[in-house]
Amino acid sequence: MRAAIEAAKEGLNVAVVTKVYPVRSHSVAAQGGINAAMKETDSWEAHMYDTVKGSDYLGDQDSIELLCKEAPEDILELERMGAVFSRDKSGEIAQRPFGGAGYPRTCYLADRTGHGLVHVMYEQLVKYGVFVYDEWFVVKIVTENNTARGIIAIELNTGKLHRLHSKATILATGGYGRVFRTTTNALSSTGDGMGLALNAGLELMDMEFVQFHPTTLRRTGILMTEGARGEGGYLINSKGERFMEKYAPKVKELASRDVVSRAEQTEINEGRGVDGCVFLDLRHLGADRINERLPQIRDLAINFAGVDPVVEPVPIRPGAHYSMGGIMTDNDGATRLGGLYSAGECACVSVHGANRLGGNSLLETIVFGRRAGKKAAEYCSATEFYPFPDHSLREAASEIADIIRRDDGESANIIRDEMTVAMVDFAGVFRSKELLTKGLTRIKELQERYKKVTLTDRSDYFNNELLSALELGHMLDIAEAILLGGLNREESRGSHSRTDFPKRDDDNWLKHTLVKKEKGEFRISYKPVNITKFKPEERKY
Ligand code: FUM
Repeated sequence: MRAAIEAAKEGLNVAVVTKVYPVRSHSVAAQGGINAAMKETDSWEAHMYDTVKGSDYLGDQDSIELLCKEAPEDILELERMGAVFSRDKSGEIAQRPFGGAGYPRTCYLADRTGHGLVHVMYEQLVKYGVFVYDEWFVVKIVTENNTARGIIAIELNTGKLHRLHSKATILATGGYGRVFRTTTNALSSTGDGMGLALNAGLELMDMEFVQFHPTTLRRTGILMTEGARGEGGYLINSKGERFMEKYAPKVKELASRDVVSRAEQTEINEGRGVDGCVFLDLRHLGADRINERLPQIRDLAINFAGVDPVVEPVPIRPGAHYSMGGIMTDNDGATRLGGLYSAGECACVSVHGANRLGGNSLLETIVFGRRAGKKAAEYCSATEFYPFPDHSLREAASEIADIIRRDDGESANIIRDEMTVAMVDFAGVFRSKELLTKGLTRIKELQERYKKVTLTDRSDYFNNELLSALELGHMLDIAEAILLGGLNREESRGSHSRTDFPKRDDDNWLKHTLVKKEKGEFRISYKPVNITKFKPEERKY
């Protein structure tokens, strides 16, 4: 939405095509906040250093510099658009400590920051007259002469296929958390943009880096914001020990997410968990502070785990939360295809490298959404319009008709379930050659079975079974890219933790992994990391 607003400001004819209604975008679930160096005692350089260190030195430092430098002005612009933030005693935008940050620089709206921002974005879409095709699902990016000409999409309400011709297209479809069984992500987070990009011949970058958020609720995986630890929450094990003292003696619960998730998983694996979980203890914060700063997570814990954080520790565990990898772009969201841009979680600029800091994700959508929208608008103004040929629609229609007509095969839901379990088992917090190889074999078997996927619902209107089958195609590709990248990268860096290669290896692996699909097979290549201000050093928290 931020990209569309910027392009619409340039007076272009802009539309948003979205699988869900815009205010149901998964960004609403970003709870804890958005980072920016707003105070005189903070600086964009300090924000940059924390982000580079958090990324385990894999983030591109020219991109990180832009993210951190442009952040404060973007926050003020959000305010001018009407965004509401919690305030501190002096009436300034309140900021809380977050993991891996050397300064309390996460601006927030209680524990509903993403919710607040998504609604402001939507208001701006209305203000600028951006047309929204809601509940449409994109099945193809149409390309010709290395240029994107537009998309083909299904209108879910009617089942009709449509061509949308455009001079420029921006993919901003979010992450793929649903590839994993335990995830904070909405049902809609199935990595569709990344799958479309792969099918259009583009590279995905650093797909092996999957962020496991340390505090996701028992069973459902619902996010319990890092803001809870920012407000002073503890992590305790079954013996009541504040175990982070062992793993990150200086900052304890506010170490970066990869460090905290590994610590939790170690406690659980070594028998100091309960029912596969450890606990988030907020009792010492008191009811007033919890109600003021963390009202949503109190409700969620009560409603989904039957536990009131005011009186009891909340059972939590690491869960898939964010994809550091994605569609390779430059600092303006441009991909290798003319007219095709990407921003947000589905893109990899790369500002997060091997591990993202909490609060940098909403920021990335705003800074790089704006930049991509502006660049796409410039491209449109300088480019002729070429409608794309009819045969692309016929081809897409025949691929979908094949799935609908097929009689002999199995349900996408069974394959999807097996995939999500395999990804937790084989590409989780701790990985090894043995596990990743098993995972890859498993996913390849599932891909074979997917070729024969069948539907029980053959109707046109809101055919969710068809939608689920199409999403699964993307998810299986993404699962393969994660496993392949993980197997290939023989080191431990950020969120990618190999028990058989426990150390970071800058001599051999200080480089980005690129993966692309050629004639149905994945190919790996590499790209150097852009290091400007901060030389790699050992990370300690
Ligand atoms: O924990 C959280 O509130 C999540 C924030 C983020 O992923 O940036």
